[in-house]
Amino acid sequence: MAPEYKHKFASVVLAAGKGERMKSALPKVMHRVAGQPLVAHALSALIPLKPEKTVAVVAPGMDSVKETAENALPGCQFAVQEKPLGTGDAVRAAGKALAGYPQTILVLYGDTPLLTPQTLSRILDAAASADLVVTGIRLVDPTGYGRLIVDGTGQLEEIIECRDATPEQKKLTLCNAGVMAVSGKYLFGLLAKLSAHNAAGEFYLTDIAALADEQGLHSHVVEVDAEEMLGVNSRAQLAEAERVMQQRLRVHAMQQGATLIDPDSVTLSMDTAFGRDVVIYPQVVFGPGVSVADNVEIRSFSHIEGARIEKGAVIGPFARLRPGSVIGEDAHVGNFVELKKTTLGRGAKANHLSYVGDTDVGANANIGAGAITCNYDGAQKHDTRIGAGAFIGSNTALVAPVVVGAGATVGAGSVITEDVPDGALAIARSAQVNKPGRAKREKK
Ligand code: UD1
Ligand code: MG
Repeated sequence: MAPEYKHKFASVVLAAGKGERMKSALPKVMHRVAGQPLVAHALSALIPLKPEKTVAVVAPGMDSVKETAENALPGCQFAVQEKPLGTGDAVRAAGKALAGYPQTILVLYGDTPLLTPQTLSRILDAAASADLVVTGIRLVDPTGYGRLIVDGTGQLEEIIECRDATPEQKKLTLCNAGVMAVSGKYLFGLLAKLSAHNAAGEFYLTDIAALADEQGLHSHVVEVDAEEMLGVNSRAQLAEAERVMQQRLRVHAMQQGATLIDPDSVTLSMDTAFGRDVVIYPQVVFGPGVSVADNVEIRSFSHIEGARIEKGAVIGPFARLRPGSVIGEDAHVGNFVELKKTTLGRGAKANHLSYVGDTDVGANANIGAGAITCNYDGAQKHDTRIGAGAFIGSNTALVAPVVVGAGATVGAGSVITEDVPDGALAIARSAQVNKPGRAKREKK
């Protein structure tokens, strides 16, 4: 964990860009890494540092971005950038919310999901002795990044955007990572002087470096790990960010005490939580909202989201747990079983080929192969209750709403439309007829 940051600062997170290079109907910062939108990653990195104020800059109509930001960092304020006129213009939009703020203002981009609080606090530390701190990364392939021009003394003179760089400047490998810490005393004055005379016709935030240098301000570059500063502008970069984040999450899961037999084939979400002595077989996907208690075993090809799995449960292979599923202690969910909004009591089993939805299954109940809850009548969803110790025979259809009592048995192949009392045997299928000698047929 990062230490709580000791100085006062405010932050601005830029999230108003359209993200043309993503070729998407979704705002760029709503694309997800490890199940969480990019903008939520950037905001989450701020939480341990406790900024005095955070302003997220969004475009008109970006309600989904606002909602996501508000959830990621409660108390986050918003500023609207009317037109996407560039990163400098976007920071200007936050001017009203931060008017007169005298301390450091940390500017981050909402498309940088791998940032850590540790790195942000290093940048803020550097801002204690400089007017402008820019984060630098060394890249083998710096295509698309602004290049940092630094003089012999370490003073940052200028940032040249890739599109405006000369072939000589393009050879520079020290790049602008995107995070800046600027004294509140100067930031908005510098932004007021920006012009859009450049290849993109935009107001670049990065031009404040040259303006600060002209004004005799002290600008400093803090070099950080390049991997952490990956900016997502394209689907390929999104995939790269996902790869790095998955790697981090797998290491974290193993540190928590989970065995991942083939870590590279397990997909996790930011909030996946593991107890100790959990064993995850290859090819398992964890969507958002999953917690896994001690001694659980999750076998291959299972897909799990929004589920709580309690101690000692065994899931899969080929299980699908959908949101609202609670798997009780020592319960089993086997192959080709789908659960939705269903609680499986302690020791209950659904081992083969089932759909169980909107259902409460009591402790030690057994759901036979191919049993299905018919929870949807074409318009409405209905609930099913299966009592403790009940036995649902193979290939049963439970037509909801319906209750099967504790200890009841339902004969295989039944279509159950009426409640079954506790301890009763229910059979709801046509009786068998045997016709002696009729099996053999002769061809005419
Ligand atoms: C930017 C930097 C570049 C740096 C790179 C690092 C500028 C001009 N360039 O380039 O030096 O190397 O990041 O990743 O700043 N945004 C707005 N409003 C706008 C434009 C952008 O809010 O009008 C937001 C976007 O949503 C995004 C962020 O600002 O989250 C960065 O914009 P982007 O277009 O990705 O800048 P880059 O081209 O990556
Ligand atoms: Mg970018």
